Amino acid sequence: MDFLDKVLFITGGAVGFGRAFARAFSAQGAAVALADIDLDAAETTASELRANGARAMAVNCDVADETQVEAAVARVVAELGGIDVLINNAGKHLTKYNQPFTVLERHEVRALFDVNVIGVVNCTVACREPMIARGGGAVLNISSIAGYMVTSPYGVSKLAVRGLTMAFAQELAPDRIRVNAVAPGLTATENAMVDLPQSLVDRFVGELQLVKRLGVMDDIVNAVLFLCSDQAGFITGETLKVSGGYPLGI
Ligand SMILES: NC(=O)c1ccc[n+]([C@@H]2O[C@H](COP(=O)([O-])OP(=O)(O)OC[C@H]3O[C@@H](n4cnc5c(N)ncnc54)[C@H](O)[C@@H]3O)[C@@H](O)[C@H]2O)c1
Repeated sequence: MDFLDKVLFITGGAVGFGRAFARAFSAQGAAVALADIDLDAAETTASELRANGARAMAVNCDVADETQVEAAVARVVAELGGIDVLINNAGKHLTKYNQPFTVLERHEVRALFDVNVIGVVNCTVACREPMIARGGGAVLNISSIAGYMVTSPYGVSKLAVRGLTMAFAQELAPDRIRVNAVAPGLTATENAMVDLPQSLVDRFVGELQLVKRLGVMDDIVNAVLFLCSDQAGFITGETLKVSGGYPLGI
């Protein structure tokens, strides 16, 4: 796959999945903008990529804030020349968001939906014009297998991401912008491993998944690279589960 001279806007690009996407796309020749609330961590990742010869920049951006998103997109267009691919990756995912709606405090529910749902709307709308200026593009949303089980506020927010994927695929088709999503299963990102109880990890791998190992970064990275590439040019509006076969059969 070749992303030479393509420009990516990656939300939550400082660490975890976002950093893994930035490393993979820049290794394929892309320039990457890491839009994150943790500017120090985003700068660290951007300088690592620049040291490896890539074009990379960090930009301060809370995806829940429409004004900050618009300013970040404008800065990236000015510094990197445009935007071809948007990865809506930033998300709140701590286990506390798996509590029932009757338990999780309303301000926490609102904050969760502001980032996981409205953040996708803000970034997709803001990146539309720059993509049109390049003749089209691709949007890739990070949902979750929790978006298929829908037993918690987190699951509902990730179901909404699947819905937004279908809605924006239709809305942006005339602009030659494809919109897809990946729904990762349990994956060993650093923060997820700190937060998730070992008993849950063991249950996923030992009982729930068909593939009996923990998901790794490359499982998700490979799916994202494909869906953003020209090889997936006939695919739009889809969410691809990358979860070792869970939740098939529930
Ligand atoms: N790790 C998993 O097992 C797993 C499984 C399914 C889905 N996901 C989804 O993958 C995405 C990334 O997960 P991760 O494990 O890499 O997370 P992470 O916590 O390791 O990293 C998230 C990044 O997003 C940034 N961020 C948080 N809120 C932001 C905001 N409002 N605006 C901009 N940046 C913000 C953080 O600073 C951080 O750099 C999330 O959407 C998560 O829901 C993760």
